[in-house]
Amino acid sequence: MGEDKDDFVVTPWKVEGIIDYDRLIEQFGTERITEELKDRMYKVTKEKHVLLERNLFFSHRDLGWILDEFEKGNKFVLYTGRGPSGKTHIGHLVPWIFTKWMQEKFDTTLYFQMTNDEKYFFEPHLSLDDVRKYTYDNTLDLLALGFEPENTYIIQDIEHIDLLYEIAVEVARKVTFSTVKATFGFDNSTNIGSIWHSAIQAVPAFLHSWIYGKKTPCIIPCAIDQDPFWRVTRDIAEKLGYYKPASIQCSFVPGLKEGGKMSSSEPMSAVFTTDTPKMVKKKVMAAFTGGRTTVEEQRKLGANPDICSVFKYYNFIFMPDDKDLADIEKRCRSGDILCGECKQILAPMMMEFLEKHQAAREEVKDRVDEFSAARLRDELRR
Ligand code: TYM
Repeated sequence: MGEDKDDFVVTPWKVEGIIDYDRLIEQFGTERITEELKDRMYKVTKEKHVLLERNLFFSHRDLGWILDEFEKGNKFVLYTGRGPSGKTHIGHLVPWIFTKWMQEKFDTTLYFQMTNDEKYFFEPHLSLDDVRKYTYDNTLDLLALGFEPENTYIIQDIEHIDLLYEIAVEVARKVTFSTVKATFGFDNSTNIGSIWHSAIQAVPAFLHSWIYGKKTPCIIPCAIDQDPFWRVTRDIAEKLGYYKPASIQCSFVPGLKEGGKMSSSEPMSAVFTTDTPKMVKKKVMAAFTGGRTTVEEQRKLGANPDICSVFKYYNFIFMPDDKDLADIEKRCRSGDILCGECKQILAPMMMEFLEKHQAAREEVKDRVDEFSAARLRDELRR
């Protein structure tokens, strides 16, 4: 679980400390994305993606196999999701942006799971009304990225349980309490909904194969915190006659404060997609940087972008041009630019990004039903 002797913790519900991603890969048993794998992807996509190029998507399970199958004409489906426990922050958008790119370039279907049940089980302060409200609200963020209904199915666990239940019971019979206890750290005080959730989160990886009666490869783009679910899912997949789902995993967009990932539980550290320009500015101006204590020192010795949250934002989303990024890094290290000035560059970039995103949210407000997985019921009746 990433706990033991390490000074960082990564579970699907808690991410803390300064993460050593090499150690995490070792603990989780995933693999690094190699240059060779990137090149194989680019052979199909015909263009590079900044999140791969900068190794922000850095880890995988069976990506090579997914590409082998694709080359043989055996197309995969994509599966990703969201636990609707609050507002979406810009960290959540990163795996969705990458998923959108994969969907377009590989011309394939996406199953997107909204685990409103998971959040109800795990977050005692949330009511069913709350998780439903956030499901709708978070769906707007997903759709604002430009997904199209023809090949995108949003599964809301509670509302669409009839589509999931048969596979869920198959999975649940194969997964023992001892496995989920060891994987997720559950104990006797854990509610049984949380234990059952491991079965439900496995289902969309098999849904396409089950509906169409044809074993279909599936790859899951997400941040690496979700990997424990895929370990459980992969363990039982073949026993049920499905392929093991592959995955492609990113690191965490950090919070604006020191250490840790961007997390909704730290409102001043997270930038939410619905934040006003004023709020964004306030958060960015209070962000943790790698600056020195005095201006004189910084001019003389330079600052440290390696630990700076502002620089990490340029790297993840806001400076896709490598030349711009290298330039700001040089200016930072040489003391040519001060942290306050650097924040004044990031804040308007973020505000512009959010302004566009918020306008796109408005545009999709009445289109949510078009994406509903309820349409799959018709496929089952055929
Ligand atoms: P959730 O809602 O915690 O997170 C949604 C997605 O965002 C990723 N993520 C991040 N990525 C980059 N930087 C961050 N700071 C950051 N924080 C979260 C998560 O890895 C995830 O990809 N149980 C899941 C919902 C789910 C799911 C899935 C997610 C169901 N099926 C399949 C991914 C793939 C959850 O609560 O995600």
